Amino acid sequence: MTLLRLLWLLVLAVSCRQAPPTQTPERPAATTPAGNQAAPPLQTPPENPTPTIAATPGGAQAPPPTLDNMIPQPVSVTATGGAFALTAPATIFVEPETEELAAIGQYLADRLRPATGFALPVVAAAGPPAPGNIYLTTVGGDPALGEEGYELTITPEAITLVAYRPAGLFRGIQTIRQLLSPAIESATAQTGPWLVATGTIRDYPRFAWRGMMLDVARHFFGVAEVKRLIDLIAYYKINRFHIHLADDQGWRIMINSWPELATYGGSTAVGGGPGGYYTQEEYAEIVAYAQSRYIVVVPEIDMPGHTNAALAAYAELNCDGVAPPLHTGIETGFSSLCTDKEITFTFVNDVIREIAALTPGPYLHIGGDEALATNPGDYVQFVERAQAIVQSYGKQMVGWEEIAQVNLLPSSVAQHWNSTLAQAAAAQGVQVIMSPASRAYLDMKYNSSTSLGFSWAGYVEVEDAYNWDPATQVSGLAENDILGLEAPLWSETLQTIDDIEFMAFPRLPGHAEIGWSPAGARSWDEYRLRLAAHGPRLAAMAVDFYQSPSVPWQP
Ligand code: ACM
Repeated sequence: MTLLRLLWLLVLAVSCRQAPPTQTPERPAATTPAGNQAAPPLQTPPENPTPTIAATPGGAQAPPPTLDNMIPQPVSVTATGGAFALTAPATIFVEPETEELAAIGQYLADRLRPATGFALPVVAAAGPPAPGNIYLTTVGGDPALGEEGYELTITPEAITLVAYRPAGLFRGIQTIRQLLSPAIESATAQTGPWLVATGTIRDYPRFAWRGMMLDVARHFFGVAEVKRLIDLIAYYKINRFHIHLADDQGWRIMINSWPELATYGGSTAVGGGPGGYYTQEEYAEIVAYAQSRYIVVVPEIDMPGHTNAALAAYAELNCDGVAPPLHTGIETGFSSLCTDKEITFTFVNDVIREIAALTPGPYLHIGGDEALATNPGDYVQFVERAQAIVQSYGKQMVGWEEIAQVNLLPSSVAQHWNSTLAQAAAAQGVQVIMSPASRAYLDMKYNSSTSLGFSWAGYVEVEDAYNWDPATQVSGLAENDILGLEAPLWSETLQTIDDIEFMAFPRLPGHAEIGWSPAGARSWDEYRLRLAAHGPRLAAMAVDFYQSPSVPWQP
């Protein structure tokens, strides 16, 4: 037995002895729901609980809980050397009693129930609850934590999560999940014990925009697949889901005023498969699902290039009035809306109006990249009109960095991918999202033997995806020009959720950390060990991830 393990057993013995006497958590006096808010679906805590720490088969083999293996790495972590044991009678208390906090408590309960088999009722609290429980509250939350920050205090008696805003509680819940053993992510009951190392964590993000993009145009992915991806990105505190809804090969959302965009323009995909599209109800369902995970959906309709699906669906959008055939190849740069025709702007206005009405988030992405078949002067006029239309529906325009060639509103956002054009956006006072293809494109192959993806921006091993910084990536772009970062996943070569997972994981957790954690604290040599500890977590979530040989994966 190593000295370390001996020490750990001692700690465990002491912390178990310090575990609170087994008491029935008192149901706090119910507070009156504010205003017309419906009372949350709270439950009664279980009667007469008797916490027990379930024996692990081979007991002493269970590794001690640590505060060492979180991704993204929190801003500040102080370990105090003990452990909190989550046991069967535990209750998740929330305060104040609002529907929103009840839903957050419920989210945590839903994540912890399958593996623990515990009831974990969610109950309104009035003040810190009795020992043995989890307490989620915005009462006394420090405004300096901002929208997404949180403070987590773990003692042998309780897990207390405090945030200024509900989004901070949701982010902090991901930390709690990561502090439990990887088996907590299993879909079926596992043997505990469910221990959390004691200490305090104070945490908040570096950048406001920490995104992932999924291209559903080249291949279509259904609502269930998108929801699974949203849950996986939420685990790493990503807060933007950019969905690339239209391209040459497919139009993926019903527009009621132009229905054939979806029914015909969405009827195929790269390689000639059947394609598909979201009804407006399905899109709204995705948006609401993301919103409940504090993720803003950013819908993209790529224009004026990348528009063959629309041009095939409506002949009048073509300058010659002739609809081209549907496109199932992977070439780009050949299509353009007819910027000389007024009907084009009727179309743009209708599409943006309908999507804006379905999208509560502030952003609408108009693409604007690789408009190689659009006259440069026409491109400028087109993007400026599109920007005004987006603004008229109360949204901020986002576009790929080529939009820096036009006069941008200060509220617009440019997305860097493969040039220095974003410098011109920053020079106009416009903020930039960093998605450098050579680092952040999730469709780049890991190495020459990766069967999926492309390599036009190089191979991007897990280390390459981690070893970059948004504030030093493009000269002339400094930290305050940068809204954040995003990892796009283009789907020409991807057909299944497994394909998505293989390309996104494990690079995406690295991007999530770059977006969240303080820059100075990051090093690959240290990160690869934390990532290694996430192998069993990803496996427990049945994620089909790339087992890079540069990471010493834990079994
Ligand atoms: C892009 O990759 N064309 C934005």
